[in-house]
Amino acid sequence: MVGKICGTGSYVPPHVMSNDDLAKIVDTNDAWIRERTGIGRRHIIKGETTSYMAGQAALKAVEDSGIDPAQIELILVATSSSETVFPCAACEVQKTIGAVHAAGYDLNAACTGFVLAFNTAQAYISAGIYKTVMVIGADSMSCMVDWTDRSTCILFGDGAGAAILCAEEGEPAFMAAHSDGVKGEALTGLSRHRGGWKPEGEDKESYIHMDGQAVFKFAVRKVPEIIEEVLSKADAELEDIDHFVLHQANRRIIEAVAKRLKTDISKFPMNLEEYANTSAATVPILLDELNRKGQLRRGEKVMLSGFGAGLTWAACLFEW
Ligand code: COA
Repeated sequence: MVGKICGTGSYVPPHVMSNDDLAKIVDTNDAWIRERTGIGRRHIIKGETTSYMAGQAALKAVEDSGIDPAQIELILVATSSSETVFPCAACEVQKTIGAVHAAGYDLNAACTGFVLAFNTAQAYISAGIYKTVMVIGADSMSCMVDWTDRSTCILFGDGAGAAILCAEEGEPAFMAAHSDGVKGEALTGLSRHRGGWKPEGEDKESYIHMDGQAVFKFAVRKVPEIIEEVLSKADAELEDIDHFVLHQANRRIIEAVAKRLKTDISKFPMNLEEYANTSAATVPILLDELNRKGQLRRGEKVMLSGFGAGLTWAACLFEW
């Protein structure tokens, strides 16, 4: 059995922060951000939460699929920014959509989270454990960035995306995943709970810290490698892939990956100009956009790939 996507949904907060808005709070400008990243705007929560966004994306996916939420057996939420440690965001989603028979848990692998959750769902389905699984990526990066640090705050946005996988007979999904904890220092977002309770309150160290160039080089090297690894498992060729749906961190990273793979950039859809890097949410938000625009046709081959803090990276090849 394989998990076929039978419904998608996404949610981004209505409040928009443009590059010009950012230039009013840090020393930056629209031209610099666009040239280095491809980002033009980002959507930022104003009172919404990560699990609220996850729930809204899930409701839309349920509507798109036409299934009864009571059929959903498992809800996986990939997030590193849930507003509560517990209950987990997956249980909040369960409540929102009325998936009364589902089990649920959260999974944290930063920006790689959605692809790893998708792979986990595929593994459960191919093992015959579950038939209907909701997979969500949701993050509120605006709560994690230091809004006085121009090297990181320009990169991120908030949002959520969801996909429902339904078991069907068919070609299996092929997947791979890796981590390199030794290089974890390149991108960190520390828990505010570490070392016990601190009465003095705000702790600057808890914000995102990043060696931008190290992360850039890692992504440009490891994403093509893992795509080739999955292709070889599937006994498939690069030309067989119709859509490369990559984590939307930076236009230059995606262009460099396409170049390394000697594949036309038109096969690498992008929406980061509008949403920036929404961490675990980028891949499912993009999948939902492509689905709603009718750009994914039954039988087409889709390659997902995520990368990010950990360091972590993952990929999955499946048929739409
Ligand atoms: N606006 C204007 N100038 C900025 C700036 C900003 N927002 N941020 C940094 N700069 C300046 C730096 O201070 C530096 O100035 P200097 O030369 O006077 O010291 C100059 O721009 C170049 O900085 P550098 O860090 O070398 O730029 P870069 O070309 O590496 O681009 C990133 C920075 C962050 C855009 C790039 O490294 C990147 O995209 N990395 C990957 C990050 C990522 O995607 N992370 C998430 C992965 S999940």
